[in-house]
Amino acid sequence: MYKISLMGFSDLEEAYKIELDVNPSPWKYETFLSSFEVGHKGLICKKDNLMIGFIIFSPISPEAHILSISVRNEMQSKGIGTLLLKSMLDQCKVMNYKKIFLEVRVSNEKAINFYEKFGFSKDAIRNNYYTDNSEDALLMSLSI
Ligand SMILES: CC(C)(COP(=O)(O)OP(=O)(O)OC[C@H]1O[C@@H](n2cnc3c(N)ncnc32)[C@H](O)[C@@H]1OP(=O)(O)O)[C@@H](O)C(=O)NCCC(=O)NCCS
Repeated sequence: MYKISLMGFSDLEEAYKIELDVNPSPWKYETFLSSFEVGHKGLICKKDNLMIGFIIFSPISPEAHILSISVRNEMQSKGIGTLLLKSMLDQCKVMNYKKIFLEVRVSNEKAINFYEKFGFSKDAIRNNYYTDNSEDALLMSLSI
């Protein structure tokens, strides 16, 4: 029913529409594009040929950094984020990565719950991390 595959250049526009839809402070499209060009990896989730979510991460062995994960609003809380993150973690394990890092807005309880469910620990607060509203970031990590 749901299909996970590697994100390619031809997926970027569709993924960016989801980014605009779910992220109150979305990346610029140029950032999205250049992230891909500098070697970040992405996975997408499709249902009936429609993209419903994606995850982008930066792999720098032996660590990876989750840069973005988004699921279409109407498809959230149905296990799709879990499928994407689990697929990414499986890939990282195969590549013998040891640790996964991320930053999340301190107000984003849903995402914090989501990461805690996978065993991510709350490591530190980075003050005024987000430039749009000076919100603090919670730094989280997971050893795999
Ligand atoms: C965060 C996000 C990727 C999670 O994906 P999802 O498909 O909605 O999550 P899942 O259905 O796989 O849920 C997994 C866990 O997340 C948490 N979660 C999901 N929906 C939640 C909600 N409405 N409220 C609180 N926690 C929630 C729960 O711990 C849930 O586990 P459970 O089903 O056993 O209760 C998705 O909600 C999203 O795209 N949010 C907007 C973008 C965003 O905030 N990205 C993260 C930036 S760091």
